[in-house]
Amino acid sequence: MLKPNFKEAKKRTKEDIKVLRNEYVIPEDMKNFGLNKKYYIKTYGCQMNEHDSEMMSAILEDMKYIKTDDYEDADLIILNTCAIRENAHNKTFGMLGRIKHLKQTKKNLMVGLAGCMSQEESVVDEIINKYKWMDFVFGTHNIHKLPFILKQHDKTNELEVNVWSNEGNVIEGVPSKRNSKYKAWVNIMYGCDKFCTYCIVPYTRGKQRSRMPEDIINEVKELIKNGYKEVTLLGQNVNAYGKDFKNLNYNMENLLEDVAKTGIERIRFVTSHPWDFTDKMIDIIAKYDNICNYIHLPVQSGSSRILKLMGRRYTKESYLDLYKKIREKVKGCSITTDIIVGFPGETKQDFKDTLSLIEECKFDSAFTFIYSPREGTPAAKMPDNISKEEKEQRLYKLNEMINKYSKKINDKMVGKVVKVLLENISEKDSSMLAGYTDTMKLVNVKADKKYIGKIVNVKITDAKTWSLDGELYE
Ligand code: 5AD
Ligand code: SF4
Repeated sequence: MLKPNFKEAKKRTKEDIKVLRNEYVIPEDMKNFGLNKKYYIKTYGCQMNEHDSEMMSAILEDMKYIKTDDYEDADLIILNTCAIRENAHNKTFGMLGRIKHLKQTKKNLMVGLAGCMSQEESVVDEIINKYKWMDFVFGTHNIHKLPFILKQHDKTNELEVNVWSNEGNVIEGVPSKRNSKYKAWVNIMYGCDKFCTYCIVPYTRGKQRSRMPEDIINEVKELIKNGYKEVTLLGQNVNAYGKDFKNLNYNMENLLEDVAKTGIERIRFVTSHPWDFTDKMIDIIAKYDNICNYIHLPVQSGSSRILKLMGRRYTKESYLDLYKKIREKVKGCSITTDIIVGFPGETKQDFKDTLSLIEECKFDSAFTFIYSPREGTPAAKMPDNISKEEKEQRLYKLNEMINKYSKKINDKMVGKVVKVLLENISEKDSSMLAGYTDTMKLVNVKADKKYIGKIVNVKITDAKTWSLDGELYE
């Protein structure tokens, strides 16, 4: 049994990051392990987790498992979990409750926990003590070892806990079964060294480590060959890409430019930290048409006092400077953000500062959250005397303002012709297709299914707060 350890997870040594290319293997006796069996993966949380699930899918299919979208029909269930806030925790344990019933009637069902919650000591202790009926737990660092974890469990028939708390290496050569045929996630880096005081990610995902440029570029080229139109470069803090290279002078500016030169039609990247955003990056985004005019730039708070407590390394003023520079140089760029309300000690004035920043920035949209204490992080020890009601009111007020600007920006798009990558049938109306603009606006379009997978011109006919309606414009 290998349990997670936060003390270890927090460590950052000067040791070189290794790129390991031959770590993914399936033992001979596991190659048919999934024959005539079905798997179901439930993914919580961010795009990184979505992409990790795509890897788990490919690994399981390499063992002959077949995917099912109905967990009651599955022989193997994996919950790929998120630890960022308490409610993500609760959702996972709620789902485990439902699965427990299923397990009582389906004796051969195997159930595993993966992702960021697996990296938390307290979660794994709870699983060991109260969820003994589960079959395996693995973490974010050893996804490629899934065949061995299943093998070990098969041998002992006991709860197999195998979670690494090292800083992590870069593992190449793990396959991926992508959910979309048109747009793909591409990891460019793993982990985070920023240690914002509220955030659990540096503990659950390990040290910042960048993939080698040629591995990323080759992956993008391969995607183009397979008909992909869009890539999203993924990392917790993509602007810091390359800062961990010891013998290579190559950073996010270089990478953006080289990915743009592959000719892929659309490039996005998430998530940006304002601290590492350089002028040159802005110039490159402006220069290349295939780098989307869309930047997700989390601000977290509009109060410089709170930003300091959060350990964000910028002030309200310096964020605004960067924001204005982007708006000026990247014409028509849409900018979205993340905001936390109710950080320990956030006063009415601090919150007002956040509202005034929103007034000034008029973001295209924002993900807004009530602060959730995460065990083991510095902020969890800070005194917090704001009531739950007050926090909820602040969130409500904040959302009202954010939504007001989202709607205003969308209203201005009515009558315009924009390019949309049509991805699938619309969830709201099966006679429509849905897709995103370069600026990441969701558009529902009256169009025949034959347009799925194509980038088309669309005239916007109607605006809502979170989406637009449009018709093909040929
Ligand atoms: N509580 C609330 N929100 C959080 N986030 C990260 N940690 C916490 C937390 N402890 C938010 C931040 C981040 C986004 C992914 O989640 O806004 O940008
Ligand atoms: Fe968390 Fe901050 Fe790292 Fe983002 S930059 S993952 S908020 S520690």
